[in-house]
Amino acid sequence: MLTNKKLYIKTFGCQMNQYDSSKIFSLLKNSHGFEKTENAEEADILLLNTCSIREKSQEKVFHQLGRWKKIKKINPNIIICVGGCVASQEGKIIYQRAKYVDIIFGPQTLHRLPNMINEINKKRSLIIDISFTKNEKFNNFPKPHAKGPTAFVTIIEGCNKYCSYCIVPYTRGKEVSRPYKDILFEIAQLTKQGVREINLLGQNVNAYHSKTINGDNCSFSKLLRLISKINEIDRIRFTTNHPIEFTEDIIEVYNYTHKIVNHLHLPIQSGSDKILKKMKRGYTVFEYKNIINKLRKIRPNISISSDFIIGFPGEDYDDFKKTIDIISDINFDASYSFIYSKRPGTPASKLKDNITQNEKKQRLYLIQKLINQQTMKYSKNMLNSIQKILVEGVSRKNTNDFFGRTENNRIVNFKGSIDMVGNFINVKIINILPNSLRGEILT
Ligand code: 5AD
Ligand code: SF4
Repeated sequence: MLTNKKLYIKTFGCQMNQYDSSKIFSLLKNSHGFEKTENAEEADILLLNTCSIREKSQEKVFHQLGRWKKIKKINPNIIICVGGCVASQEGKIIYQRAKYVDIIFGPQTLHRLPNMINEINKKRSLIIDISFTKNEKFNNFPKPHAKGPTAFVTIIEGCNKYCSYCIVPYTRGKEVSRPYKDILFEIAQLTKQGVREINLLGQNVNAYHSKTINGDNCSFSKLLRLISKINEIDRIRFTTNHPIEFTEDIIEVYNYTHKIVNHLHLPIQSGSDKILKKMKRGYTVFEYKNIINKLRKIRPNISISSDFIIGFPGEDYDDFKKTIDIISDINFDASYSFIYSKRPGTPASKLKDNITQNEKKQRLYLIQKLINQQTMKYSKNMLNSIQKILVEGVSRKNTNDFFGRTENNRIVNFKGSIDMVGNFINVKIINILPNSLRGEILT
């Protein structure tokens, strides 16, 4: 067993990757006593948790490995591990491009890392394990460690939707839901460490399904109802969602419990039915609007955010204009937009890409400008309102301040005290800044 060994982890990509990285650290701490370091030069293991959603994220992997090559030259004993979606997709190709890599593991084999480290210590030769496992990974997860009053919990991994542009079903595999009891147990463990807000994670949480003890189905809406009964949990968030599985029973839970935040991330991707069809999203703009209308009947002030893909093959100016229109039509709050990126092996990669890079960039600029205006409009409407925030800790910018988040995920900085951390407080919004709000505690 190694002792006083140091692990340096670099994580690219989504919240699930962040969650996986925190589990990797706990696993290696428990098995080998690893401590985390922020200094790559002093590490015994350099670990890269990768993302392949867009080409740019993938390029970052080899740039990072190039930097680590220099470190390995100085310290040949250092172990370099590459995990996540690029590892899953590229496998041995990573090694062919970077011969100094020791371990290549996938999103579903990270729990085997302690054994892989043992193996590599015995025999220095490449280990690749990027297989898909069912619930094996989750069954081997260590006890969760809360980092504050809010925590992430993965409930489902993988995706069966096969949107024509997306690489996720190939890298994360098919949908695997965790048994609902394991999820409730993990949340119970987190509440004992002071967690008050849970953020449920999955490539598509709406597809969640497991069986109860009676053999009944536990759908996503049922899981939400079960979690809402946990006294210590006051706020429930979840991401990400898919319109075709955002069904009536989920909408009804918004009526059943106010613990579900007044905010929903429901990616529409495009405002054009023609493009949605090419993307194989399985819904029309009309159907999307219907969901939002139903939801707004229950929660008139709910904030809705979305993802948008710009410049999908075949998107003409009229399609783009429809995406522009849908942003103000739905009145989206803060949203994300990306230029379409051709991913190898996906059906869309075979489509003729007829839009110039310049045109794509121009469309992205226009869309982001509009999204920023919308976000600002939303923030301005919050001025002088009273917001309930969960105080997470000392403010990042000014250590005399504390910060918390509103239901629609705005960061609020305010003058407070350490005893407020982990509690919900009411603040009045007194100033609007581009990336945060300023609040004042109500006396
Ligand atoms: N190109 C650009 N954006 C993509 N996304 C997924 N795949 C691609 C791609 N090939 C975006 C979608 C998704 C978000 C997580 O990433 O908008 O909702
Ligand atoms: Fe990708 Fe579509 Fe699955 Fe989301 S729903 S992960 S965009 S295939």
